Amino acid sequence: MSEAAEQPAVERHHRHPRPAAPPPPEALPLDLAELIADPDTRIVVCCGAGGVGKTTTSAALALAAAEAGRTVVVLTIDPARRLAQSLGLVELDNEPRRVDVPGAKGELHAMMLDMKRTFDDIVCAHSTPERAEQILANPFYQALSSSFAGTQEYMAMEKLGQLRATEQWDLIVVDTPPSRSALDFLDAPNRMSRFLDGTMIRLLTAPARAGGRAGMRLVGAGFLVFSRIISKVLGGQLLRDISAFVSALDTMFGGFRERATATYELLRRPGTWFVVVATPEPDALREASYFVDRLSVEQMPLAGLVLNRTHPPATTGLTATRADAAAEEVLEAGGEGAELAAGALRVHADRMGTAAREQRLADRFTSAHPQVAVRAVPAAAGDVHDLDGLRVMADALTGPDDDTPTGVPRTRVLPARRR
Ligand SMILES: Nc1ncnc2c1ncn2[C@@H]1O[C@H](COP(=O)(O)OP(=O)(O)O)[C@@H](O)[C@H]1O
Ligand SMILES: [Mg+2]
Repeated sequence: MSEAAEQPAVERHHRHPRPAAPPPPEALPLDLAELIADPDTRIVVCCGAGGVGKTTTSAALALAAAEAGRTVVVLTIDPARRLAQSLGLVELDNEPRRVDVPGAKGELHAMMLDMKRTFDDIVCAHSTPERAEQILANPFYQALSSSFAGTQEYMAMEKLGQLRATEQWDLIVVDTPPSRSALDFLDAPNRMSRFLDGTMIRLLTAPARAGGRAGMRLVGAGFLVFSRIISKVLGGQLLRDISAFVSALDTMFGGFRERATATYELLRRPGTWFVVVATPEPDALREASYFVDRLSVEQMPLAGLVLNRTHPPATTGLTATRADAAAEEVLEAGGEGAELAAGALRVHADRMGTAAREQRLADRFTSAHPQVAVRAVPAAAGDVHDLDGLRVMADALTGPDDDTPTGVPRTRVLPARRR
């Protein structure tokens, strides 16, 4: 039932004329400089929809933390090639490499997740050499370890657990996979263990696990028919592969679940912070909203929202309407440079329009999540693919809140409307 419907009818009829809509709440400032410098901060996870800047934000935050004196490792996932190159990540070696950051007080290390290698390492660590060899050679395992939806997310968590266990790092910054949904990262461990432990797989592999013919008798004739149909659809070889894989994995099963649970718990421990990244676009912000809600349900700590690739105008003193009007006047007056001046005014008007749209989207997010702190990061002129670019981004992420050329606080794209 809606609130209005709950109110007594009388009151509804005697309502005063609707007052002007209240101005949207101001977003709280997000102090990432303090967050990454705090010795109690041990893990920062950057989440968000695909393409919003998770990898870039992770690398920039790690750089800022290293410059602030911490020993940092950034776990990147599928970084763009040029960014990887500039971090010295030319080959996938699944181990952190030191990045030379001239003048940094701390250390920056970077690594690129190799999902298959990480999976292989778990298998090797949890079974005998012969059994490991069997699993690694199994075609079903090979498919699962390189392409199962969720494997990358699961392995990212796995790697995070490993990095954390070494106690070698003051701070681990974790990038998340380019999933469709930011929630995939949180869902992966469960999905993975549910899948490996799933009814379907259990059924399919029951005969093998119960031991040949005896097993067949156990599961009954109905299942045999079912199994034959499945065999036809999936192919007998695949079934035998799955079967062999799951029996080989059986010894590790407890291990898998436990690990998934342990890593999930790691994300809830004090010292872990989530940074949600979004661009000022409806889809990305909707995804950020889902994620924020989910973190709160899971009681996982949210540092705030990075609103990446905003388009603040060079000056906020001239409105779009006035800039457009001025462009008209300049053109009418004519003379040397009139075209150029009118063009510049039109660009400004356009830019103000974009900024206003972005601000509206940000306001909508803040109205729905007033407790979530926000940091707006302007779009750089080109891609961010080297240390210099990362440093500019790091400054935008961690610089003082009101130290911008236009004086607009970094929680916003445009100045707040006067009240
Ligand atoms: N603030 C920014 N200004 C300009 N380009 C950016 C900015 N943030 C990210 N990019 C670019 O956007 C692209 C996607 O960023 P990336 O970090 O790979 O996103 P994700 O990891 O979320 O998929 C990259 O080409 C990156 O250089
Ligand atoms: Mg990425």
